[in-house]
Order: sequence, then structure tokens, then C-alpha cells
Amino acid sequence: MKKFYVTTPIYYINSEPHIGSAYSTIIADVIARYRRLSGYEVFFLTGTDEHGQKVLNEALARNIDAQKYCDIMADKFRKLWNELELTNDGFVRTTDENHMRTVQQFVTRLRENGDIYKGRYEGWYCIPDETFWNEEDLKEGKTCPECGREVKWVSEENYFFRLSKYTDRLLKLYKGNPEFVQPDFRRNEMLRILESGLKDLSITRTSFSWGVPMPDDPEHVIYVWVDALINYLSAIGFPDDKETFERFWPADVHLIGKEINRFHSIIWPAMLISAGIPLPKQIYAHGWLTVNGQKISKSLGNAVSPMAFVNVYGNDALRYYLLRDIQFGRDGDFSEDNLIGRINADLANDLGNLLHRTVVMIQKFNNGLVPEMGIEDPIDDTLRELAERTFSTYTESMDHLKFTQALEGIWELIRFGNKYIDLTEPWKLGKNLENKERLDSVLHNLVRVLKNV
Ligand code: MSP
Repeated sequence: MKKFYVTTPIYYINSEPHIGSAYSTIIADVIARYRRLSGYEVFFLTGTDEHGQKVLNEALARNIDAQKYCDIMADKFRKLWNELELTNDGFVRTTDENHMRTVQQFVTRLRENGDIYKGRYEGWYCIPDETFWNEEDLKEGKTCPECGREVKWVSEENYFFRLSKYTDRLLKLYKGNPEFVQPDFRRNEMLRILESGLKDLSITRTSFSWGVPMPDDPEHVIYVWVDALINYLSAIGFPDDKETFERFWPADVHLIGKEINRFHSIIWPAMLISAGIPLPKQIYAHGWLTVNGQKISKSLGNAVSPMAFVNVYGNDALRYYLLRDIQFGRDGDFSEDNLIGRINADLANDLGNLLHRTVVMIQKFNNGLVPEMGIEDPIDDTLRELAERTFSTYTESMDHLKFTQALEGIWELIRFGNKYIDLTEPWKLGKNLENKERLDSVLHNLVRVLKNV
């Protein structure tokens, strides 16, 4: 059986997901469902990123044990994903024992390959983003170039990963495999970083202990990002459960938001090359959901739970809107008015009418049973050809994560379905028994169209 492995980022556990962050998992769910329908054995992975200073600080602020805090929060994630009807096959927690063991085994490999050394890290660190920054990258007032919050000066004895050694290998990879990072404009951003040369990466911390201990030197805990990235392997059994691992690895697509592209498209492949593990097939960095052009995020105070919309409009309507209205890959403004507009125009009017008219007529003219084909007319061929064309453009679009285009194609078919009713006038055919066989075909064809849709 063909297999497909799709991942979302694992979520920082210290804040509950909002409509912006849930975007990654909803899209991944759509990909997983599409692949299952197309006959693939799918592994769809999501989970929670639970170590690091930020999480520890949150637990301390609440005066609870860090693990307890994570357990409470992980349950909230599970519950929300359930409510969103996500069909994930795995849910990895970085505090899972097997994950932590995998991280240590992985880091041991890097060390055995000569890619880890001890040195002194001096520089700036953004705790909310868990990211190291060079002085020259900082924004005014010593703030994080990514999130604008204050960064902290760190001066510690750390272990380093020889990331710089992989600059040329990665450049070669990017040039030889343009699909590796998508969309193209995101790949180009990463290419520019590579072309300016990479620095080695500090991969441990000693100022706190909420993390995976460094093998043979437990004073150090492994940097959260290194810990987190390895989830894509630990969740499918690396290295002990060889069978599962080899069935699903390499991942078909790591779906991520654009702000964490550098970790996935530069640091992660370098780590994998060093460990002698094949690379994922693709990293797709999508854009942000925004409100008035600003990223939806807890820190900006514009974050709303997806349930606020699901409870009113339902899961399918929300999904439809996100995939249809937000051009995938780009940033897109989330607007409840546009969501309502899509529900009214596309779902209720176009699709709802086609379904409603068809069901009512089958009820009225054929006792609620779908008739067999009767007499055909050339317009039936037009409808059939359009349905076939729609199916092939749909699969082509979905295979390339072009959701908006996939939906546009389907709606062309729906609109033609409505037009087919107007042209064939089944309510007139139903008045005269002589036309029964033609009416049968019309109703039959309409059901087929709806089934395809
Ligand atoms: N823990 C890291 C990922 C580690 S993966 C090895 C992390 N977590 S996060 O909770 O901050 O983000 C999770 C996902 O939500 C990311 O893909 C991020 O891009 C996405 N989003 C958060 N806010 C978003 C929007 N406003 N819009 C779209 N996606 C955004 O990063």
C-alpha cells in the first residue's frame, strides 16, 4: 500500500491554540483525509512541545510542577483537536519517555559523527520564541526580530552542533531539489540565508533543567528546538521500532508556518544528514492568518479560539472558508464577514440548492429512490465531461496543496449542476408520464454529480 506521512509542528504547550495556530493542524488534516481517500496508508502527526524555559516559567508562575502543568495543557490540546474533528494518527509529547530517549540517541549519533563540541555561547536569546539571535539581527531596543519582544543576554558553556559544516551540502540539496522547500519564495529566503553562510548552533542550556538531559553530561539540557524537531522521528518509532519507522520515513511533507521555516529547512536537514538519516521529501511553509494585516497571536491580543466559530458555523464551514478564501502559502486576513459570505454564497446557495433541488425532486417523482439511467441527451455528455475534468484538476491541485484551485474546480461543477437543472427542467418532465425515462436520467445524473462533489 502507498503510504503518506504528514506532520504539523508540535505546539508550544504554554498557550492554548487559537484560530491562527489551529490553521496548521486543520490544513494537515485536510491533506491526511485526501490521501486516505486516495488509497494511501496515512500517518498524520501532531503533538505538543513541552520543554524549555518558557514552559518552565509558566509553570512556576502558577506554582505547579512543570510536568503537571504540561499534563493539564496537553489534555486541552487533545480536547480541542477532537472538537475540530482532526484525524491525527499520532500525538507526540516531548515529555514522553520514548521521545526523550530518542532525542538522546539522536544526539549521541551527532556526537559520534564528530559534529558536537563544547564551547562558550555568548549572545541574545528570545525566550518566547526559544531562539538565539546575533546582535546584528536585533531590532531597536534589543528586541527579537521575529516577535518584537525583549531578548536576554546569555553567556553559558554550551555544546554546539557543527551546522556551519553543512552549508555547502544544503546549498547543493536546494539546487538539486527545488521541491524540497515550498513555496518557491520561501525557498529563496532560505537560499539567501545559506548563501550568507551558517554559524554553528548552540544546542544545550545549563541555566535551567526542564528539558532532555545531554547524554553523559546531565548538567546540560538539550535546546528545545533540537528536542522538538526530533519528534518527527520518535513518533514513528525511531530507532527501536524499525518496521514502523521504515514504513513512514521519510516524511512526505512537514507542514509548518513561515516563521519556523529556518528550523525546518536548514537546521533539521543538517541534523538529519549528520545522523545519517534520509531527508523528508518536502517542507511546506504556509503563511499567517492575520487580522487587519497583523498576525493572529496571543501576544498581540487578537487570538480567538477556533471553537468560537465552530460552535456557530460548524467545522466544515470553517474548513471550507479557510481553504477557499485564504490563498494557501500566502498570509490571509481572517474575517468573520467573509466566512459568512462563503457560507451563504457557496455552501447554502450553490451547493445547498443543488442538493436540495435534487433530493426534493427524487422524493417527489421517484419515491425517494435514485432512478437508473433512461433516455440520454447531449447535455448529459457535457455534464459528464465536466465532472471528469473536474476530478482530474482536483487531484492535480490537491497533490500540489493548491486547495483554493481544487475548490474552485468543484464549484464550477456545482454551478453547472444547477444550470443543468434549469436547462433540463425536470419539474416539467415530471408532469408527463411519457417523459419518465428522460426524467430518470436527469435525476440519476444529478445524484452522480453530488456524489462526485
Ligand atoms: N513549538 C514550535 C514548533 C516546533 S516543531 C518541531 C512552534 N509552536 S507554535 O505553537 O508557536 O506554533 C505552532 C504552529 O502554529 C506553527 O506552524 C505556527 O506557524 C502556527 N501559527 C501560529 N500562529 C499563526 C497564525 N496566526 N497563522 C497561521 N499559523 C500560525 O512554533
